[in-house]
Amino acid sequence: MSKVQEHFKIRMTENGFLHHEKVLTVDTMNPNVKRVEYAVRGPIVQRAVQIEKELKEGVEKPFKEVIKANIGDCHAMGQKPITFFRQVLALCSYPELLEDNKFPEDVKNRARCILQACGGGSIGAYSASQGIEFIRHDVAHYIERRDGGIPCNPDNIYLTTGASDGIVTMLKLLVSGEGTSRTGVMISIPQYPLYSAALAELAAVQINYYLDEEKCWSLDVSELRRALQAARQHCKPRVLCIINPGNPTGQVQSRQCIEDVIQFAAEENLFLMADEVYQDNVYAEGCQFHSFKKVLFEMGPKYSDRVELASFHSTSKCYMGECGFRGGYMEVVNLDPDVKVQLTKLVSVRLCPPVSGQALLDLVVKPPQKDEPSYGSFIKERSHTLEMLAEKAKMTQEILNEVPGITCNPVQGAMYCFPRIQLPPKAIAEAKEKGQVPDMFYCMKLLEEKGICLVPGSGFGQRDGTFHFRITILPPTEKLKIVLAKIKEFHQSFTEQYS
Ligand SMILES: Cc1ncc(COP(=O)(O)O)c(C=O)c1O
Repeated sequence: MSKVQEHFKIRMTENGFLHHEKVLTVDTMNPNVKRVEYAVRGPIVQRAVQIEKELKEGVEKPFKEVIKANIGDCHAMGQKPITFFRQVLALCSYPELLEDNKFPEDVKNRARCILQACGGGSIGAYSASQGIEFIRHDVAHYIERRDGGIPCNPDNIYLTTGASDGIVTMLKLLVSGEGTSRTGVMISIPQYPLYSAALAELAAVQINYYLDEEKCWSLDVSELRRALQAARQHCKPRVLCIINPGNPTGQVQSRQCIEDVIQFAAEENLFLMADEVYQDNVYAEGCQFHSFKKVLFEMGPKYSDRVELASFHSTSKCYMGECGFRGGYMEVVNLDPDVKVQLTKLVSVRLCPPVSGQALLDLVVKPPQKDEPSYGSFIKERSHTLEMLAEKAKMTQEILNEVPGITCNPVQGAMYCFPRIQLPPKAIAEAKEKGQVPDMFYCMKLLEEKGICLVPGSGFGQRDGTFHFRITILPPTEKLKIVLAKIKEFHQSFTEQYS
């Protein structure tokens, strides 16, 4: 090998081609991607999958199955789909079924309506990039009904590939500048890690504001102000993200709090992003979902003519839980018309969100009406799912609070509980020795000993010196009871072992 070849690490292969080192290596790849973390599908889940394989191969474990309570994937956890939704989607996918008299007339009408709006009458065709027009109109009507008649312009609706896609798209538009003028984005801690991951990928500056665990994970404007002032030293804060109801914290924001946040955003000239994917998941007495859009308009033109807002919803959560269809929408308010052109261009590049997801979204925003044959079963199924979730939310909080060393706030909404765990100093020291974050060490041990898969609090962010885990309330009641009993047993033995 010549010196030049050696210098450039060029080798001659057997068939005579010059063989270079790989073009794409961890050293040459996009460094922003390397900074991305997503704990919800992190090392604990990878180990859980491995353990499942080991169990199948007959490896002896102190448990027979791994129970995954780590991810907000409703159907994977046994939640049943709404029959009406699946019937319409079945007909849309296989229109020959329109001739089958097993399907009610309203199901057939809805399927025909969707198919007529599709290119060539097939949901296999691309749609308009912003989404099928009549579905955007149905979304706008849904928002108007939800918000007590406050108008919604269908031109401000963008159908998306789940809410994730809308959130990342908006962040892409918002992130700019270099050095101290780089865009800063305020996100809650604990947060849903899509936000930190997207900010890392876009090389935006993450500005943490802490939710108040002592006050049921509520949001205090003085904390927003503190975080904003500190961040102004090193970036240009331009965006405030809110998740309501909260993931992983399960709180539901009061109307007053939303008003305070909007006022803060107006005063500080921040773009508001309201993640409202859990808008139907509200369980606690006295709690109610208020959309940012509604509160903004109720505050009058001083705010509603000015504050820029993007809000997001999805088919993945609530009583639908249809995560795999990747349906969703965002509504933009007060977006600069020139930016709107850019947004429309940006979404065009990716052609369109899945048309099956758009069809499902249409059914969510326009479910069967009282005089239609599917109304009864729709209401029954929806109420059943939401009642079960409410029951499990209460049960989870009650059982976990019985365990010495575990405390948790009420699960007012969403689908998660984020309890605080006391870890003995010896356990913290052993975790550190192993190079693990203490709550990761705890969750990994829980998985190995009991077969329960949770996500460590560190994956969502938490105040220094505090430890948590996130558990979903999605497993069926009997399974959830087993999960909670095992956590209880584990926490007690873990505490004894390290005391
Ligand atoms: C707060 C929040 N926002 C957005 C999403 C993304 O949902 P999807 O992209 O499936 O609509 C999730 C999913 O768990 C979530 O919890």
